[in-house]
Amino acid sequence: MRPKAELHLHIEGTLEPELVVELALRNRLELPTFDPEAIRARYDFADLQSFLDIYYENMAVLRTEQDFYDLAAAYLRRAQDQGVRRAEIFFDPQAHLVRGVPLEVVFGGLTAALKDSPVSADLILCFLRDRGAEEAERVLRAALPYREGFIGVGLDSAEVGYPPSLFRRVFEIAAAEGLHRVAHAGEEGGPDYVWEALDILHVSRVDHGIRAMEDPALVARLRDERIPLTVCPLSNVRLRAVPSLQDHVLPAMLDEGLLVTINSDDPAYFGGYVEDNYRALQRELGMTDDQLDLLARNSLEAAFA
Ligand code: ADE
Ligand code: ZN
Repeated sequence: MRPKAELHLHIEGTLEPELVVELALRNRLELPTFDPEAIRARYDFADLQSFLDIYYENMAVLRTEQDFYDLAAAYLRRAQDQGVRRAEIFFDPQAHLVRGVPLEVVFGGLTAALKDSPVSADLILCFLRDRGAEEAERVLRAALPYREGFIGVGLDSAEVGYPPSLFRRVFEIAAAEGLHRVAHAGEEGGPDYVWEALDILHVSRVDHGIRAMEDPALVARLRDERIPLTVCPLSNVRLRAVPSLQDHVLPAMLDEGLLVTINSDDPAYFGGYVEDNYRALQRELGMTDDQLDLLARNSLEAAFA
């Protein structure tokens, strides 16, 4: 299998229904159903928000350090099976803090799993953009005692209505701490979100970025500065950012010479891990081995380590 890096992966998005059930039983929590297939049957999404509603609901089973350890360890085993040599993993501390799960528990479990990992891996702390900039700043300051436990910050959750410019200050603080900066932009939001991520947040990678293709000047900027885009094909189809894989802008992005990488985003929800995304491109878009090899090489080039 071609060696690759995975650069756009939400660890909470790897929570398979079987683990939801196992953790609910272990933590004595109620669930609407304890049948993994019935949980999976709900995964028919109209857009990003309809996915996020279920994503936040399911992750309520994550309570203890052991839960976070088991979640990350399961992903890292699968990543190794999928040819991943390097994983830069998003996590959403605010989604746990609001449920009363302290940072110590989240960092404790995740960093222990990464220490035991069969593949090179690091964490990127994401701010939930729909919870605003003030809370993001509080969370970053609260996370600084765990500074050794993460290499960067990102921006995720509901995009439209929460432009990158709102988060200028917290990204400045992150920069002063020597953290890498990335942001989801251009998934559902327009090219203006990608411009802001570049010009105001000074990100070194753009997560998704597919709507950048609507703006030729932006495409030129991304190409000239070799700014990596972490594209997630199966996610885009399942969240209806594109009507089908055949309609995806990925081939056009490659034609434009952009530094595109392929990633799984939330594989437990979108029907495949990272190699499954590569295989879907081969099967449904007729991408050649050479094209897939280029995408894999891009991912290793775009990794922070
Ligand atoms: N959180 C988890 N997956 C996400 C996505 N695809 N976009 C925005 N926020 C997310
Ligand atoms: Zn994402």
